[in-house]
Amino acid sequence: MNPVLAELHDKARAVLDPVHYDFFAGGVGDEVVLAENEAAFLRLALLPRVLRGKKVSDAFPVLISPTAFHKLAHPDGELATARAAAGTILVSSMASTVPIADVVAAATGPVWFQLYVQPDPEVTQALVRRAERAGCTALVVTVDSPVFGRHRRDIAHGFHDLPAGLAAENMRDLHGVPGLRKIEMSAFSWEDIDRLRSMTSLPLWVKGVLHPADAVLAVAHGVAGIVVSNHGGRQLDLTPAAVEALPGVVDAVAGRVPVVLDGGVRSGGDIALALALGASAVGIGRPVLWGLAADGEAGVRRVLDVLRDEYEHVLAMCGGELTRDMVVVRGTGVSGWRG
Ligand code: FNR
Repeated sequence: MNPVLAELHDKARAVLDPVHYDFFAGGVGDEVVLAENEAAFLRLALLPRVLRGKKVSDAFPVLISPTAFHKLAHPDGELATARAAAGTILVSSMASTVPIADVVAAATGPVWFQLYVQPDPEVTQALVRRAERAGCTALVVTVDSPVFGRHRRDIAHGFHDLPAGLAAENMRDLHGVPGLRKIEMSAFSWEDIDRLRSMTSLPLWVKGVLHPADAVLAVAHGVAGIVVSNHGGRQLDLTPAAVEALPGVVDAVAGRVPVVLDGGVRSGGDIALALALGASAVGIGRPVLWGLAADGEAGVRRVLDVLRDEYEHVLAMCGGELTRDMVVVRGTGVSGWRG
């Protein structure tokens, strides 16, 4: 791993309350998927192309994936993340410890709002209006969480609520309910996606699609984009690594909407591999939390700077273009994806 990212992780681990470190670091069940998300990238290699004479573009195809409760990592919480997010898209979690309006005000670039559809449709609608009023430019509906993942580390610590003084601020005072409404998980359906689309003119993405058939349905239901994700190994400990599910979704979507990949992206090389397999961009979860915990806004900036620098270097080495035929499965010599 890049030594800067390793240093930020180690510092985060040293400064965080171990209960909160485990909340950020942990996954569901035996944490098989958590490990696989990273391991799968290490099983892939790239056959660079040469003599292409291409100038590398300066686009940085990275989003900050939505993660909950940034004030557990640093007192500035999501404000620090937003300030550091320049040059990327910040997908702000519905479970932020700063209200979405303040997150958007602190950001210099686009902010998208991640939403868990709530059992009470009025609460869902109120959240959408909060995101719109705040100036978010897209909604990202997380669809992989019909129930909470069972995180053994959190269970062992008895961690199931925020410490006093912190709150999921976007839930505050909804519909005159005094105090805080807790976020609930809900088994909703494509009809709810249709309802959401008719409720708002914001582009609507779905996050947490792994099966190609669901990707086809998502396109049919008019989504603006798809995030291939297993929630960083936090929901079902039986899925493939996220990057292994990517080519199937890319093929099913056939270019009709952009596909973003998150889970296990830890280097510029990982970004390049995901793009070669057809992703338009990648999302970064935990490394941002490590930067935030280690050094607030400056730490998040360092994470993004390292990834940008590594990615540009790999891209230049590969002739400025990344295509699926360049991807080789290590130990097989087979190029192209036989997923
Ligand atoms: C998450 N993730 C997440 N996803 C989401 O849609 N809403 C959320 O509130 C959260 N919260 C959350 C908290 C923590 C601590 C983690 C680690 C993750 C999932 C997240 O958006 C993303 O899918 C993964 O984090 C990507 O994997 P990596 O980059 O962490 O490996």
